[in-house]
Amino acid sequence: MKRVAILISGGGSNMEALVNDMQGDHPARPVLVLTNNPDAGGLAKAAAHGIPTACVNHRDFPDRPAFESALNEVLQQAAPDIICLAGFMRILTPEFIARWQGKMLNIHPSILPLFRGLRTHQRALDEGMAVHGCTVHEVTGELDGGPILGQAVIPVRDGDTPDDLAARLLPMEHRLYPAALRRFAVGDRTKVVVGASTHPTPHP
Ligand code: GRF
Repeated sequence: MKRVAILISGGGSNMEALVNDMQGDHPARPVLVLTNNPDAGGLAKAAAHGIPTACVNHRDFPDRPAFESALNEVLQQAAPDIICLAGFMRILTPEFIARWQGKMLNIHPSILPLFRGLRTHQRALDEGMAVHGCTVHEVTGELDGGPILGQAVIPVRDGDTPDDLAARLLPMEHRLYPAALRRFAVGDRTKVVVGASTHPTPHP
């Protein structure tokens, strides 16, 4: 049974989707929910599911390496086989990523490699995209780079605001991330596709 640590900074809805899926015949179980933000709403959600939680507040540390060595101390106790970043809003150093290379996933709210970084919904609207989406990928030293494990697609509608896109996308994230984790946990690298037909589109 693979041990999964989930890192969050906010509401933790993706964490909760992952936790709710890791039951029964699922090859993995959550062993820790870890946050940098003592006010993260996801802490209460994790506790309600009976999952051990920890907070390593990045504001308590003089620099990124000191923060990350405290993160690593907590992570080493939990001994995860897989780390899922789920709305974790801190940039990680190459050293931290190297330490967990091959074991760490992230969900990013764009169809990578489009729109790496922040404000992805606004940038998709600015570019006049017809579709938008999210990507689960392995975390490597390249920000929002790394091998793609799955993607979900949503339509962009006239008059959409960034919040409209975020709201339409979130339920798709909650389908994509659990499906991608299930495959990653058994070494299946077949990419997950959610929301786009993978069958030839019938002629109209
Ligand atoms: C989601 O929009 C996700 O795309 C991004 O941060 C948000 C996380 O939300 N990574 P939650 O904390 O999982 O609810």
